[in-house]
Amino acid sequence: MTQQKVAAESDVALAVRPASAGDVPAIFDNINYWAQQGKMLVRPMQNIFENLRDYFVAERIDAGGVTFAGNGALHVLWGDIAEVRGLAVAPSAQRLGVGRKLVQACEAEARRIGIPLLFTWTYSVEFFESCGFVPIDKSRDLHPRVWSECLRCPFFVGCNENGMIKRLEGVPMPKNLPAPPPAQIPPGIH
Ligand SMILES: CC(C)(COP(=O)(O)OP(=O)(O)OC[C@H]1O[C@@H](n2cnc3c(N)ncnc32)[C@H](O)[C@@H]1OP(=O)(O)O)[C@@H](O)C(=O)NCCC(=O)NCCS
Repeated sequence: MTQQKVAAESDVALAVRPASAGDVPAIFDNINYWAQQGKMLVRPMQNIFENLRDYFVAERIDAGGVTFAGNGALHVLWGDIAEVRGLAVAPSAQRLGVGRKLVQACEAEARRIGIPLLFTWTYSVEFFESCGFVPIDKSRDLHPRVWSECLRCPFFVGCNENGMIKRLEGVPMPKNLPAPPPAQIPPGIH
């Protein structure tokens, strides 16, 4: 995958690249930081390692060198849908276009592998709207695979995150796509 570079300010550039094993401590710390602010769910380090090929890292490049600027991931749920998750921009790199570049990297990856629909859970509705996502009614419109993941989430009861989707224009539905398995409802959930 090629690096995507943009000029964010006159003297600052941003690069987004697939994550490597050595990035995991920075990704873990960044997600934990925002989880403590109540902006996203915490992710165990093991979960990040196990899903490392989902992750992208953004770096800020200026006269001082290269610094970590954020992370985001694309997790395939089924042949027609992938979730943008673990999106977190470093506190020092907010509103420089880092979040948008990370979402664009996820979108490019979904296009590369032929997935036509992006989904995300978020509290940052305006940001995702600016990236072309639209809110859905989560009581009605959840894909069965998203619903299966919800049922395993510790915050299932009282969840107040917003579900949003983006249909990727020009990416057809995969041919011969089997139906996903029905959501497994764990004991105690009604
Ligand atoms: C939400 C988040 C990913 C946005 O990343 P960012 O790099 O700061 O956002 P960008 O600079 O790419 O913003 C792109 C556009 O999104 C919109 N936007 C971004 N942050 C916004 C905010 N706080 N309020 C309203 N609109 C916002 C704007 O339209 C912005 O364009 P502009 O700066 O030209 O006005 C970042 O603030 C973050 O990491 N927050 C904490 C974790 C989090 O909420 N993750 C979300 C997924 S769970």
